Amino acid sequence: MMSWTVASSVLVLLCWWGLQEGTHACTCLPRHPQEIFCQSDVVITAKVGKVKDDGDFDQPIKYDIELTRTFKGPERLFHAIYTASSSAACGVILSKDTEYLLMARLHPDGTLHISSCDFYQPWRALTYTQKSLLDRYQQGCNCKIEPCYSLPCDVSGPNVCRWTDFLPGVHRGNQTQNYACVRRRDDTCAWYKGRTSPVKG
Ligand SMILES: *[C@@H]1O[C@H](CO)[C@@H](O)[C@H](O)[C@H]1NC(C)=O
Repeated sequence: MMSWTVASSVLVLLCWWGLQEGTHACTCLPRHPQEIFCQSDVVITAKVGKVKDDGDFDQPIKYDIELTRTFKGPERLFHAIYTASSSAACGVILSKDTEYLLMARLHPDGTLHISSCDFYQPWRALTYTQKSLLDRYQQGCNCKIEPCYSLPCDVSGPNVCRWTDFLPGVHRGNQTQNYACVRRRDDTCAWYKGRTSPVKG
């Protein structure tokens, strides 16, 4: 009887480990780039330099960066950004000598951290519209972007923009790439279309 108890405990333990292994993957809730912007402490562009990876699974990887512009957060010259060492732990891989737009979190010790649930894209891969929206995002940080996966989308108030990019047949990435959810003069929130080219004159 005793050994059966031990055996079953071992089994339970093994199952638990199995589950832990099974959940050992990075999952992120869908977030519009504006939400990521609003929830980030620091939004910058920076050129990526040397990477320092101790090969220790528990230690974050350190990327040296050369900051080029601050969109949000303290006007401080950050010299490095940290990320988890594996993609399963939501670590990101950045390319050397590439300038990125990075939306990151500031840890209490003053270091900068980024995960694959945050926003990181090479600057040159962004469209003119995406870049221009960076100046609009803050204006809508007290609006709410709610994803809508099937029709009819629930309308849950005047402070909400419905994010319909997931609906079948909708132009892929339309609101994600071309729109910000901003507060209008009548105090409601609505999608604002970013500029597609520099204003002339
Ligand atoms: C993109 O989204 C906006 C805002 O919801 C919408 O008015 C527009 O029709 C959409 N455009 C396309 C091509 O789906």
